[in-house]
Amino acid sequence: MDVHVGGDAPTGAADLMEKVVGLCKRRGFIFQSAEIYGGFRSTYDYGPLGVNLLRNVKNAWWEAMVQRRDDVVGLDAAVLSPPAVWEASGHLSNFSDPLVDCRSCHQRWREDKIGGVCPTCGSTEFTEARAFNLMFKTQAGPLEDEGAVAYLRPETAQGMFINFANVLQTTRKKPPFGIAQVGKSFRNEITPQNFVFRTREFEQMEMEYFVPPAEAQHWFEYWLEERYRWYIGLGIPEEQLRLRHHDAGELSHYSAGTADVEFLFPWGWDELEGIANRTDFDLKAHAAASGERLEFFDQPSGERYVPYVIEPAAGATRTMMAFLLASYSEDEVGGESRTVLRLHPRLAPYQVGVLPLSKKESLEPLARQVLASLQPHFMCDYDVTQSIGKRYRRQDEVGTPWCVTVDFDSLDDRAVTVRDRDSTEQVRVPVDGLVAELRRRLDQV
Ligand code: GAP
Repeated sequence: MDVHVGGDAPTGAADLMEKVVGLCKRRGFIFQSAEIYGGFRSTYDYGPLGVNLLRNVKNAWWEAMVQRRDDVVGLDAAVLSPPAVWEASGHLSNFSDPLVDCRSCHQRWREDKIGGVCPTCGSTEFTEARAFNLMFKTQAGPLEDEGAVAYLRPETAQGMFINFANVLQTTRKKPPFGIAQVGKSFRNEITPQNFVFRTREFEQMEMEYFVPPAEAQHWFEYWLEERYRWYIGLGIPEEQLRLRHHDAGELSHYSAGTADVEFLFPWGWDELEGIANRTDFDLKAHAAASGERLEFFDQPSGERYVPYVIEPAAGATRTMMAFLLASYSEDEVGGESRTVLRLHPRLAPYQVGVLPLSKKESLEPLARQVLASLQPHFMCDYDVTQSIGKRYRRQDEVGTPWCVTVDFDSLDDRAVTVRDRDSTEQVRVPVDGLVAELRRRLDQV
């Protein structure tokens, strides 16, 4: 893994990064892909805990962006698409990085990322910059001719634009309204680095919000605020999150205004999400290239127009990493040090750990009954190995907010002990009221 810790990095940053990466591997959050073959650089597999955390991040986004709104609908578009889509979107001609080779050590770099100095050997001598397109090109079908060329999408956004008319017709939505999508995107990044921060295969959570052009600025500001609040609501501390507006030179080829939600990563402030005013660039480009009408006809006023688009575009895998970094902490409990992921309970891979106090067979039927009563409501882990203290530490380390212990008294009083991850406080709760009590706690945060 390449970790680059920059000038504005907080103290202890490299250490934190190493600890989180180590925890991810040790506890089954994230594995190097194809590890048994020596690993495939910058490609990762999400293990039993990582898949839960990543899914919870995506579900939290979907709930906020689709489920709780009546002006946004969902979409799941194809990953493979024909060149026409990327010609019209501008990605075939514009989606490239300027590449230079160091004349001394021959490493290849993105010119805009190194400030004129080779990060490996310090040389300032480079070759001329060349444009390198970031899209993965492949072929559909057995013939390797030009007609078979296909691309893996470098963003989910174009799926929303090319389905604009389909969605409009089938849902009868009118601006302002949005189309949201979560899914994999692929970019042949020159410098993938910093664990899952920048990888060639990653997941995005994007929403295209179609608005009357005169309202674009209003909705741009609205989405900046909404998206900033989403991260705070899920536990990112305010001092580790900021909004940064792009200046004109930084804007993408389609954008009339962009601001990033940035997180204070171990190497300094960096992007979690971009919120852009894409104007009518994409709909107009696809209308011109396809010959389809991609506009909105407002029947009452008789007005016909091409909506502007405000796009909050986040990375799911990158955001998951930010949640891991922000939640990692070490403290002392009863004179013993522990590692604890203070993840928001909604994001934690397991909400509940069910722990029979001992392996004695007499506890198992009730413990299994408790587990079965919780499973329809919460993601649960069941653990009978080692001492109860060690099991609490293991659950703390992966962020499980509540542990439920079934002990010998439970057999008589049909009550269990609920232990809180953060305060380590333990209270006795009747088995019959356990789901309601945990639900109450979950709703409270
Ligand atoms: N549709 C607009 C768009 O794709 P972007 O800023 O290029 O905009 C949006 O990407 C988000 O996707 C980024 O803020 C980041 O979180 C995530 N992302 C982009 N490239 C990534 C990569 N190579 N690895 C991981 N996440 C990436």
